[in-house]
Amino acid sequence: MSGTALVGIQWGDEGKGKVTDLLAEHTHCVVRYQGGNNAGHTIVVGDEKYALHLVPTGILYEHCTPVIGPGVVIDPGVLLDEMTALTQRGIDPSSLKISGNAHVIMPYHLELDKVTERFLGRNRLGTTKRGIGPAYADKAARIGIRMQDLLEEKIFSTKLKVALKEKNLVLTRVFGRLPVDETEIREQYIEYGERLRSHITDTALLVQRALDKGENVLFEGAQATMLDLDHGTYPFVTSSNPIAGGACAGAGVGPRDIERIIGITKSYCTRVGSGPFPSEADPADAEVLVEAGGEYGTTTGRKRRCGWFDAVAGRYAARLNTLTELVVTKLDVLSSFESIKVCTAYRYEGERYEEFPPHQTIFNKCTPVYEEFPGWGGDITGARSLDDLPKEARSYLEAVEELVGSPVSWASVGPERDEIVHVRDVS
Ligand code: GDP
Ligand code: IMO
Ligand code: MG
Repeated sequence: MSGTALVGIQWGDEGKGKVTDLLAEHTHCVVRYQGGNNAGHTIVVGDEKYALHLVPTGILYEHCTPVIGPGVVIDPGVLLDEMTALTQRGIDPSSLKISGNAHVIMPYHLELDKVTERFLGRNRLGTTKRGIGPAYADKAARIGIRMQDLLEEKIFSTKLKVALKEKNLVLTRVFGRLPVDETEIREQYIEYGERLRSHITDTALLVQRALDKGENVLFEGAQATMLDLDHGTYPFVTSSNPIAGGACAGAGVGPRDIERIIGITKSYCTRVGSGPFPSEADPADAEVLVEAGGEYGTTTGRKRRCGWFDAVAGRYAARLNTLTELVVTKLDVLSSFESIKVCTAYRYEGERYEEFPPHQTIFNKCTPVYEEFPGWGGDITGARSLDDLPKEARSYLEAVEELVGSPVSWASVGPERDEIVHVRDVS
């Protein structure tokens, strides 16, 4: 048995794709356990760049079985397009396994995501508009449609009819939109089901068998801890549980099946969409981070909000995920700064918070307490070992490690597969 969970510990886009790629060589099975095509995981291999949204990163390796677990929400049209695009680039997606229990993102979920955001006006969440929230809401309300339903026309028709009775009323009477067409959706989704039939299976059983055989299974988190529905900055979160505990429910394994829990963090911090962000940098520093880090969303192309590393949020994430190690990415991006800030505590109404505050008002209104670290002022993308890094960069990694309370195993110094420095053996 050897399960590893890989989770983002900030607000997403930490470089999970790159680190999954790093681990893939020794992995037999890569499992997505939550989220949907709101994710955008980038992998750079030589001249090739892949941006995967729904298909697990394991698809890129012949020896890996890529699995979409029951906790994921699937837009089947997007999935098929992604599979076709991979085929066109010479990657065979035939080994992809999809849980029959995974819920389907339907056209009315996309429509509802858009109109809800519009109705929220200045209180909008800034979602990816991929229908994620409405699909998870229907799952919890028990009127969702699952992948296995697409394989039986009679069952699908009945479930669709039940769902549309309510959805079309909401779309037309509440939001003043046009209703969606039942026949069109039925035909389209039955066709999707046919095309995906050979991939749909009991993935929880498949994953358990792999673990029982002693194979390495990697649970590839999407989004991140601070976007977790229960533990993130609610309501500015996604609608699933990206934390490591979410891998158990979302993939169908027990807590004892996961031994190693890797937290991925940027050496600074970014956030896409609305919501509080105490360590958000001033516009001039943010612009440097945006440009040096190429901080534009992989899924929506939106410019990411940029700030300094938040050690309070980092400690919170280390605790919630019981991290066994940290991987710090994009260390090279900080090379542009003479001095680097780290948020070590929050201050609110005269009180200092070193632990994540218990009430959202404190997090919304707090000011960051910064500690400054000297920069190294030179290009580090060529570093391949700890000795190649300037002493200031090594000290910065040590500070992150100490402030978060989790050992750093790797530091990434560029987007390419080999732009990585091994810091220490942890597991
Ligand atoms: P994910 O969603 O966590 O997989 O992250 P994204 O792929 O959305 O965003 C991370 C971006 O940073 C991608 O464009 C990566 O190619 C890039 N990247 C990853 N690691 C590094 C690094 O160490 N340095 C630099 N400069 N870019 C990196
Ligand atoms: P990866 O896996 C960054 C953000 C959205 C929005 C909030 C809710 O690439 O790290 P949703 O569409 O999920 O209802 O939007 O969550 N968000 C992400 N931000 N990276 C992601 O994924 C994200 N997935 C969702 O911007 O603020
Ligand atoms: Mg991303």
